[in-house]
Amino acid sequence: MTHCVQQFWTRMSSLMWHLLFVTLITSRMVSANESSTPDMEVSSCNITGFWRNELGSTLRVKAEGSEVRGVYQTAVESTRGAAGLHRTARIIGIVGNGTQPAVSFSVLWEKGSCSAWVGQCFILHDGAQVLKMFWMLRSVADNLTGDWGSTRLGEDLFFKT
Ligand SMILES: *[C@@H]1O[C@H](CO)[C@@H](O)[C@H](O)[C@H]1NC(C)=O
Ligand SMILES: *[C@@H]1O[C@H](CO)[C@@H](O)[C@H](O)[C@H]1NC(C)=O
Ligand SMILES: *[C@@H]1O[C@H](CO)[C@@H](O)[C@H](O)[C@H]1NC(C)=O
Ligand SMILES: *[C@@H]1O[C@H](CO)[C@@H](O)[C@H](O)[C@H]1NC(C)=O
Repeated sequence: MTHCVQQFWTRMSSLMWHLLFVTLITSRMVSANESSTPDMEVSSCNITGFWRNELGSTLRVKAEGSEVRGVYQTAVESTRGAAGLHRTARIIGIVGNGTQPAVSFSVLWEKGSCSAWVGQCFILHDGAQVLKMFWMLRSVADNLTGDWGSTRLGEDLFFKT
């Protein structure tokens, strides 16, 4: 009799373990499916993080409210050494508070030139976040005569990594 009871409880406990196992697996599958739905993955741009543009320049920033702070590392420079030894500069910027906010930031390069970016953060269909930006780079002219050729304009597309 005790043997039968023991066997019963052994079977019950193994059944319970089995149920627990199945429940865990199923719940894992549900969460895996949820996170693999591309449009559900990212609903709002998060500026905070690490970004890289088409040239390999990088942007490491943190947004606190509407303020953006961080470090820019450029892969290119107007003249050799213009961006300094490490080609890095501190970022000061601002960001809106929508789901795809407008963004603006500036840097001052070591040799005195400065750059400003203005654009917007977008969420693509696959959930990737991009910063579509225009930039202007101002080099320092010796005098007013040199002003005409001292501003460059371009476009950048940054991907969040
Ligand atoms: C998860 O997705 C896979 C493949 O799309 C599907 O076979 C499976 O039934 C889904 N699981 C759940 C719990 O929805
Ligand atoms: C944005 O991303 C950072 C770093 O990945 C994270 O710490 C922060 O919680 C995120 N902010 C929001 C609002 O999701
Ligand atoms: C940002 O959010 C605040 C409070 O939620 C709101 O008052 C303000 O109008 C928003 N600003 C923008 C630019 O959306
Ligand atoms: C302006 O700067 C250029 C380049 O250094 C120099 O050649 C030129 O003489 C300067 N012109 C005046 C009016 O100072």
